[in-house]
Amino acid sequence: MLELRTAGESHGPALVAIVSGLPAGLVLERDAIDHDLARRQHGYGRSPRQQLEQDRVEVLAGLRHGRTLGSPLAFVIRNRDHENWAWGMSPWPPEGDPTGKGITPVTLPRPGHADLAGTLKYGHADARDALERASARQTAVQVAAGAVAKALLEEIGVEVAGRALEIGGEATEEDWQKATDATRADRDTLGGVVEVVAEGVPPGLGSYAEKETRLDARVAAALMGIQAVKGVEIGDGFALARLRGSEAHDEIDTDRRRGTNRAGGIEGGVTNGEPVVARAAMKPLPTLMRPLRSVDLETGEAGEALVERSDVQAVEALAVVAEAAVAWELARAAREKFGGDALSDFLAAHTAYLERIRWPQGV
Ligand SMILES: Cc1cc2nc3c(=O)[nH]c(=O)nc-3n(C[C@H](O)[C@H](O)[C@H](O)COP(=O)(O)O)c2cc1C
Repeated sequence: MLELRTAGESHGPALVAIVSGLPAGLVLERDAIDHDLARRQHGYGRSPRQQLEQDRVEVLAGLRHGRTLGSPLAFVIRNRDHENWAWGMSPWPPEGDPTGKGITPVTLPRPGHADLAGTLKYGHADARDALERASARQTAVQVAAGAVAKALLEEIGVEVAGRALEIGGEATEEDWQKATDATRADRDTLGGVVEVVAEGVPPGLGSYAEKETRLDARVAAALMGIQAVKGVEIGDGFALARLRGSEAHDEIDTDRRRGTNRAGGIEGGVTNGEPVVARAAMKPLPTLMRPLRSVDLETGEAGEALVERSDVQAVEALAVVAEAAVAWELARAAREKFGGDALSDFLAAHTAYLERIRWPQGV
């Protein structure tokens, strides 16, 4: 099974990941992973931190001369900004006088962020102890893992691509920029909608056998697991609820293909051979330069929420993270279906399966 474990705080020394279950013999390209990391950092409306970080993947285990060994793949992405937080985010009790960022406890939780809920849950006195891990900085390792998943999927001809559909309710790039500029001037934030499409997905990934094995449930959970995502739909999702059955379902032609794809490529929790289509709605980011009302957790007095460097909107970045999340789930489902300690086993099982379901039989 393909598994991902991650660790890392937003301003700690590094983000860390271990990927297990990759077949041996898969070629990984450092540039492809770094390219996706750069895509995550770009987009209109991101904070200056994105220029500061310039993420790069550093592989520590599981890879030799660019090929997976079948052992766990371990990698880190350093937080270059950590040098400004070295005292405040020191893993060990820091030496010397407090200096740099993160030295004043955060006691004014931001509405919409994990500050209050996380502080209560874990018993922290400083909301930074919660928000550092809750932060979407962590999505960098998810994107790197997604790039690895995409390398595996490419081997079987699956291409996954994410894009922004709407930002602040606007549907063209020019209007996104205008809306972002106007919102920045108002010291406010925006959300939006992204779409991920996976082409070339074979039928039969996922299963209706249990709710946890349904691929629609897994894709939805993967997207909902991304910070600030508050809604997910597969295919035409919510719009289907307003149609009749005769208008909603994708009729089956004699070549077993469909002229429409309202189901988003998944029926009964199983891929049906059409492109997998999923959308995610992102709420406006919670850190406002003109902060909302909050309460000081130390004094109990009314105050204004924490203000710290933040994006105006990160919808294009979400598109890259969502692409990685969907790729990860598809790669996991493909690994379940085709197995394979060695990449050649995985590919042979895929070829044999396509041969079995070839249509019409015998042609
Ligand atoms: C790519 C990306 C970038 C984000 N950047 C910011 C940001 O700069 N400022 C902010 O307040 N929230 C940002 N968020 C959202 C918060 O991380 C998120 O709202 C917070 O962790 C609370 O989680 P929830 O919104 O899922 O409830 C970002 C989310 C993503 C996916």
